[in-house]
Amino acid sequence: MRIELRPLTESDVQAHNDGEDAETVRWLTGAPGTPDSTARHIAMLAENAVRGQGQQGFGVWLEDRLAGYVDYNPAVDDGLEPGEVNITYATHPWARGRGVAVAAVQLLCDRMAEHAEGSHAAIRVDPENHASVRVAEKAGFTLAREVESTTDVRPDGTLATLLVWLRDLAEV
Ligand SMILES: CC(C)(COP(=O)(O)OP(=O)(O)OC[C@H]1O[C@@H](n2cnc3c(N)ncnc32)[C@H](O)[C@@H]1OP(=O)(O)O)[C@@H](O)C(=O)NCCC(=O)NCCS
Repeated sequence: MRIELRPLTESDVQAHNDGEDAETVRWLTGAPGTPDSTARHIAMLAENAVRGQGQQGFGVWLEDRLAGYVDYNPAVDDGLEPGEVNITYATHPWARGRGVAVAAVQLLCDRMAEHAEGSHAAIRVDPENHASVRVAEKAGFTLAREVESTTDVRPDGTLATLLVWLRDLAEV
């Protein structure tokens, strides 16, 4: 299985949005992407890549087909300690259950270590998001703490409880 991280470009907008389902919206984005919002997001990532600062996001390609998304964002501090850098991930529904997310998280951690982005990669996950908890375990993260989020809400509007999983970037 050949998995690669590459920068997203405008030509990926449609495939990126087609890969978003109710699970992705529920656990990650909060609202479906539109052609405009996704194009803006990709342009923002391209600027950040040039500056070498801020949120760094990548498409995940499985055998040359766009199959997901990963990013890290040093600006996220909800539930995190200094040096802990938040990462997020999503796999398109057709590609799930094949180890894509675990492999993509490993590649992202390699990049973070290479660019000295913090001491730890951090996954903040709702305990009910069993697939994502499994990704954290399989990608070598350790459960560090449980926090009440100050920003993430459940569908009923109450503040979410999040598990914080960490991986030491000195050991990737
Ligand atoms: C979480 C997500 C990224 C996993 O992607 P994936 O490419 O299928 O992940 P992997 O194949 O690398 O690993 C998935 C693991 O979770 C397990 N899993 C999948 N669905 C599960 C479920 N409902 N309950 C328990 N485990 C589940 C798989 O069996 C696999 O573990 P295994 O290899 O031990 O069998 C994907 O489900 C997704 O995009 N969800 C929506 C977005 C999201 O939740 N992002 C994370 C926010 S913190």
